Amino acid sequence: MSGVVVLRTETWSGPFDDGLSRQAVSDLEAGRTLLFPALDFTLSPDELENVRAAARESGSREGGKNVSYDPASGASKAGPLSEAQAASLTPALVRFSKMAVGLVEGLFPAYVPGLEPGRASFRPVEVEGRDQSWRKDDRRLHVDAFPSRPLRGRRILRVFSNVNPDGQPRRWRLGEPFEAHARRFESRLPRPSRPRAWMLSKLGVTHGQQTPYDQLMLGLHDAAKRDEVYQKEADAQFQDFPAGCTWIVYTDQTPHAALAGSCAFEQTFYVQPEAMVDPDRAPLAVLQRMVGRPLI
Ligand SMILES: [Fe+2]
Repeated sequence: MSGVVVLRTETWSGPFDDGLSRQAVSDLEAGRTLLFPALDFTLSPDELENVRAAARESGSREGGKNVSYDPASGASKAGPLSEAQAASLTPALVRFSKMAVGLVEGLFPAYVPGLEPGRASFRPVEVEGRDQSWRKDDRRLHVDAFPSRPLRGRRILRVFSNVNPDGQPRRWRLGEPFEAHARRFESRLPRPSRPRAWMLSKLGVTHGQQTPYDQLMLGLHDAAKRDEVYQKEADAQFQDFPAGCTWIVYTDQTPHAALAGSCAFEQTFYVQPEAMVDPDRAPLAVLQRMVGRPLI
């Protein structure tokens, strides 16, 4: 299993101790989840009230799982909330995004030249009992791959904070190392197709053309989620992330499933594999070794 490493840091911004930073990046790139039990994302009483209201109402509304905010453009999407309710959470999302950027840049200074912050999100909906198609069901173990946004080998790094106002933990499962995961499903991965990539881009389904890497990663995401036996019997550890904690993980590398919990903040980062301390650990490098040819 990929495992969880506990870090006692209590501050969101560096400078961090060199030894801590080196160990953290090594664990992260090995597919481990970095858990910061004492790193709390603090909300004001008003914001906490808004979070409670969002959690109450999001269950009964259609439209998306998350409220999201794009730090590059400043644009936000209300997802399962009303526009007014989403707007009431925007200041917290903006602040969380900035703090997550500070944390990642401080802990992993080598990443800075190859780091692009993506969207931040607030996830008010209770995960347990949410009814979804197998492909969208994140209660099933999977590695992340984005259907409409080709990453061409870039990594998906995510920072989460559980802010559940009732103290409810966020319950995950964490699975095997990436290489074992990819080999398990190797025979079920699709044959990469450039004509298909061209067509999807032409139709506007994808923003730019998928590379063979993107097609294999999407195939891996799907192969794991649709395999009922793997989902039931996988040797995956249960992990509770208590309210008030923060965790960081490469979600394109570590099979994960969100089983229960509501009210988490999340910030996505895209990382160039060349910025990694050990690029050979990137899914791109692992898959290229597996198939014996370049994938981007
Ligand atoms: Fe995921």
